[in-house]
Order: sequence, then structure tokens, then C-alpha cells
Amino acid sequence: MLNALQGKRIIVGVTGGIAAYKAPLLVRLLVKAGAEVTCAVTDHALQFVTELTLETVSGHRVYKELFDRSNPHSTEHISLKDWGDALVVAPATANIIGKIAHGIADDMLSTTVLACKAPILLAPAMNTGMWTADATRANLKTLRDRGVQTVGPGSGMLACGDSGDGRMSEPDEIVAAIDRILNAKKDLSGLRVLVTAGATRERLDPVRFLTNDSSGKMGFALAEAARDRGAEVTVVRGSVSAAEPGGVRIVPVESALDLYDAMMRECGAQDIIIQAAAVADYRFAEIKGEKMKKQPGSGRLTLELVENPDVAKAVGDKKRPGQILIGFAAETNRVIEHASEKLKAKNLDMIVANDVTQPGAGFNVDTNIAALITREGRTDLPLQTKRSLAEAILDRAAALYSSAD
Ligand code: CTP
Repeated sequence: MLNALQGKRIIVGVTGGIAAYKAPLLVRLLVKAGAEVTCAVTDHALQFVTELTLETVSGHRVYKELFDRSNPHSTEHISLKDWGDALVVAPATANIIGKIAHGIADDMLSTTVLACKAPILLAPAMNTGMWTADATRANLKTLRDRGVQTVGPGSGMLACGDSGDGRMSEPDEIVAAIDRILNAKKDLSGLRVLVTAGATRERLDPVRFLTNDSSGKMGFALAEAARDRGAEVTVVRGSVSAAEPGGVRIVPVESALDLYDAMMRECGAQDIIIQAAAVADYRFAEIKGEKMKKQPGSGRLTLELVENPDVAKAVGDKKRPGQILIGFAAETNRVIEHASEKLKAKNLDMIVANDVTQPGAGFNVDTNIAALITREGRTDLPLQTKRSLAEAILDRAAALYSSAD
């Protein structure tokens, strides 16, 4: 990251959450990467971090008051808006997210964000309940649709004692996200990329289904990364708990059969297809029209399952020259062997193998440990965020695409 942000000016907005204690570290890392940094803070932020600390690490005065008469600019409240090449709000509380979504400008930071034309990045941090609240979801969707980018949050222990989604991304991840925005590679410009994400749901009756733990996080990270690298992105998504990315076309599906139909329709037009969805291999032989009733005293119930189509294999059978197909293999044993067999059986160009028994890998976490297997060989990757794994997968996909005939 050394000098990656040389000559760039970054406005760091800090709002009032406990994660504000990490803001000085973020500022330091940005300065170390070569950036010039100015902070704009809310009153509440100053309950968690001091003005002096931010001023010292950034080397610039901290902006906090709308009508500060000591300011050299006559219109203090909008004086910062043209200064930055990017504006990052870290931490971004539910409150500032709501204000930005609705155009509320009642302090130095919200006024700056409203008037700012530079790219905006939010690093949300809040309690899981606030993060999953309908209002926060809707506000984020509004912002993402307007092109505002987000990094995180991750999940883990929260200051309130709960554990779950809502932890601010680490400062180095936020710097990496700013680097991606300001130094974006556009190597997928003009390419059509389709990503499958999430879990399928196999219905039993109107109120019950068979599914798995996939959150959609890996697929969405891939979709966001491909979008940022200039691709035209389609996401065929099953059931997900992660927030949908903006700026991509979403095709919702429920069951493996729905996924199959959608993929048979969509796959011909795509240049790169990455199948991160966790697809049920079996479905119920019969979907009951009415809710199944308990049979008291029966002791045991047997339900019949029938095999689902292998979607990736069907896509592989239809593969056209030049198209790049990538699959995932979540394994618990003989990882490389099983994944390599799938690479061949499904006519894939690459398979991303992960051992889901390792801590930090697999379903419903923010990180992953994977090996990229192609016909040429294999690369083992270290534990990293799903976003940075997505970038590594796309680096290989882009190389495979340009060397394909
Ligand atoms: N896949 C698919 N259709 C299925 C099952 C899997 O398209 N019915 C895709 C997944 O999206 C993934 C790849 O195939 O990209 C491997 O999925 P995985 O579940 O690991 O493999 P399976 O072929 O189902 O083998 P097994 O469950 O026996 O490990």
C-alpha cells in the first residue's frame, strides 16, 4: 500500500460510535500511503476521539462547526466539498447513513457529504439490531443505488456485548477500499460477468423448505469487485442474508430448478460466469400444496428426495469458445482432490476450493481461505477478506479470459 495514495486528498468523516477510536489509525494509514487527510467530525464523534488526536495524525485542522468564524473560507459549511478526491465516513453510524440517504444536512459532516461530488465510501459500524433494521437496509439500498460505496461491516464481538454483524471493517481494509475506488483497475470493461450467490431453497410445503448456510457474501463480493472493475454484472441470487450490491442486475431465484432455468436463459450472453451459489443437490419429490400436519404417534417420518440438475455442469455442457467458467467447491476433506474432480466434471476453467472446516473459511463469515485450481495448476491463497479473495479470483479470471481462444 506504500505510496498507493500519493497525492490524493481524502476527507475522513468521523461519527459517534465506539469504532471512532479506530479513526486515528485509519488516518495514519492513509497518510502512510501518501494521502493528504482532513477530518470532519460530528459532535458525538468527539465523545469517542479527541480533536487533538485527529489533528495531530492528519496534520490538518479538524472541521466540526458549521459556522466557524475563524475559518479562512467564507462559507465554512461547504468549504471542504471540493477539497477531497474521496470522502470516507468511518465509522458511519445508522444515524449518518439515514441523514445522507435523505439529504439531511444539519452539521459540518452531513453538509459536506451532501455537497460533495467526489466518490463517497461508508464504513458502517453499529449494533446488529440497527444494522439489520428495515430502515437501515432501505437507506443503504438508496445510497448504493446512487453510487455510494460501502466497506463492511464485518461480524464479531460488538462493544455492546452482542456478537454479530455490525463491526466496522479494520482500518487496512478501509484503506484498501479507498485504493480500489481511486486507483480502480478497469480491466473488465466491456465484459459481461454473471455471478450466482446464496443458497437455494427447496420447498416442502407452503411454510417449510430445505436450505443451507450460504449468506451470499462471497457472491456479492465478487459482483461488487467485477462491477468496480468495469464489468456489466448480473447476479443470480438465491436466499441471502447479506445486503445486495447496487449497480448490478439482480435475478432472484428460489430453488435449484429456478436457478437452472435462469442460468440456461442467461449463460449464453456472458463472458465470465462465477458460480458461488450453494445449490441443493436434492429436492423434495413432492411439494405439498397444504401445510403438512403432524401424525401423532407415528414416531418417524420419511420424506423422499430426488436429484436436482447440476447447474454448473449444464452450463459447462453449453460452454462457448472464449467463455470462462468458474465454480466453487466447499469441502470438508480431501479438498484439492475433490475440487479438481469437479473442475473436470463440470467443464470449468477454474475452481475455488475451500476447506470449510478451517476457522475463517466458508459460510457466513467475512473471510475465506481458498486455493485457485486451474488446468495448469494451483495457487494457495492465505486467509483474507471475501472482497480481497474476489479480487484475486477476478485477476485470474481476467488472465484466463485474455488467453482463451
Ligand atoms: N453446483 C451446481 N448445481 C448443483 C450443485 C452444485 O451448479 N446441483 C455448483 C455450485 O454452484 C459450485 C459447484 O457446482 O460452483 C460445486 O458445488 P458443490 O456443492 O461443492 O459440489 P457438488 O457437485 O454438489 O458435489 P458434492 O455435493 O458431492 O460435494
